[in-house]
Amino acid sequence: MIALEDVSKRYPNGTYALRDIDLRVEAGGFVFVVGSSGAGKSTLNRLLIRDELPSTGRVTVDGQDVARLPRSKVPLLRREVGVVFQDFKLLQTKTVFENVAFALIVTGHDGRTVRDETERALALVGLASRRDHFPRELSGGEQQRTAIARTLVMHPKVLIADEPTGNLDPVTTWEIIKLLVRVNELGTTVIVATHNAEIVNALRRRVVHLDHGRVIRDEAEGVYAA
Ligand SMILES: Nc1ncnc2c1ncn2[C@@H]1O[C@H](COP(=O)(O)OP(=O)(O)O)[C@@H](O)[C@H]1O
Ligand SMILES: [Mg+2]
Repeated sequence: MIALEDVSKRYPNGTYALRDIDLRVEAGGFVFVVGSSGAGKSTLNRLLIRDELPSTGRVTVDGQDVARLPRSKVPLLRREVGVVFQDFKLLQTKTVFENVAFALIVTGHDGRTVRDETERALALVGLASRRDHFPRELSGGEQQRTAIARTLVMHPKVLIADEPTGNLDPVTTWEIIKLLVRVNELGTTVIVATHNAEIVNALRRRVVHLDHGRVIRDEAEGVYAA
């Protein structure tokens, strides 16, 4: 589903955020990308949605070289690869339902599809009862569930969660991680960037450890000794 071949990323200011990365993630995989702040986790995620281009090497998503995608196809890539962030990035003037429905509406789906798909996504994340609330009326966990539903509504092949629990308490953190595992079990490839060692060590999934832009460990049932 995802392949990085000899990828390096140097930002215009000279910072090398990633160096010589070789990484493959199969369809249906679940991967923790770990490493301390500045290790390159978010840069890796940005390459996958073509928010940044690699300086050298090749990034392919679902068989497509992202650097060679015509500009007109980038929105399609970003529906195939959904991203959620630590700070949720919800539309504050829209309700939960409207936030989740938004991408369907702007991509021209009919009213019935918008309603059915939005309700499906809300049910999956357990937020049906909060559909008419505004983001400011929600707990942090509920806001993150809304953000997850907003990506799932487009049936992405890949869901990237970039420090999804960075703003959440431990109990809520576990609920969100369990939800991401469930999303993965339903067939979506899931990548979770985190420096929460407790979660990584409890789940024993694949762990890719970045350090100063390099992969220093890649283990199938890994741990994270931060
Ligand atoms: N837009 C940017 N311009 C210049 N340097 C950046 C930019 N974004 C990130 N960096 C640098 O790249 C390195 C990796 O950052 P990042 O990918 O955000 O790591 P992480 O998500 O693991 O904290 C850091 O040294 C960071 O300061
Ligand atoms: Mg980051």
